Amino acid sequence: MSESTAPVPTAPDSPEPAPEQHPYGHAPDGPKRVRTRHFHNAKKQGIPITGLTSYDMLTAQIFDQAGIDFLLVGDSAGNNVFGYETTLPVTVDELIPLTRAVARAVTRALVVADMPFGSYESGADQALSTAVRFMKEAQAHAVKLEGGVRSHKQIRRIVSAGIPVMGHIGFTPQSEHGLGGHIIQGRGDAAQNLIDDALAVQEAGAFAVVLEMVPGSVAKRVTDALDIPTIGVGAGPSVNGQLLVWTDFAGMTDGRVPRFVRQYANVRQVLTDAVHNFRDDVNSGVYPAPEHNYE
Ligand code: KIV
Repeated sequence: MSESTAPVPTAPDSPEPAPEQHPYGHAPDGPKRVRTRHFHNAKKQGIPITGLTSYDMLTAQIFDQAGIDFLLVGDSAGNNVFGYETTLPVTVDELIPLTRAVARAVTRALVVADMPFGSYESGADQALSTAVRFMKEAQAHAVKLEGGVRSHKQIRRIVSAGIPVMGHIGFTPQSEHGLGGHIIQGRGDAAQNLIDDALAVQEAGAFAVVLEMVPGSVAKRVTDALDIPTIGVGAGPSVNGQLLVWTDFAGMTDGRVPRFVRQYANVRQVLTDAVHNFRDDVNSGVYPAPEHNYE
């Protein structure tokens, strides 16, 4: 398997890659495992970081082998695996087996476990216990949690235990009722709150921060204000990386997807056609054919 197809730099913390090394990691000496230091190097060298959600072993293998830098086992599994209307009902017990499957499948990508609603808000102790569960029981490489200033204590405690944290600000789906729906965040005067949130996440020790559904111009201000990389989900081009929910980008989702999503395939249609063909072949006796029969 190729370990070297993704755009992460190879030389930890060096301003210029050594001449024999390729900054995008395409050379045989590219990183065998994406680590948090590669995120920092990517930002320094202006190399975009790529992320997709994944909830199972097969998609994790495909995305890892294609060179995606990090896989997020998102609480969007609530919608995309468990069929809830929002992410709010998802539990740690539901996400741990999904995270374990993804972590087992990858050889290169950094696996980030999403801490679900109710698993960290009570305080730093609760947050650390949850993060430890994801690292110990699911072999995640990092955790993600929502909130800027309000989650500072939680992030700091988790990081001080040696667990890398990815922040998540802007539109935070776990607060969708508090925010009044799926609304763009950081417009007008709220831009300064977003920057304050981003600085709080960085100060608490996070290695990267997700910006979800914020105007591109504000995402640029946040990105310029931070040393850590910003990962955009509907935050325009002036961020350090892009993350998409795999069921959206691959055309698996039934119904509307957010405007910021580009659909790269129509997997739902491919599967639908295959299922119709299978059903028709069984009904007409075309399948199984002689070559499918054991003697
Ligand atoms: O759960 C998820 O998929 C997420 C991303 C949309 C950021 O949190």
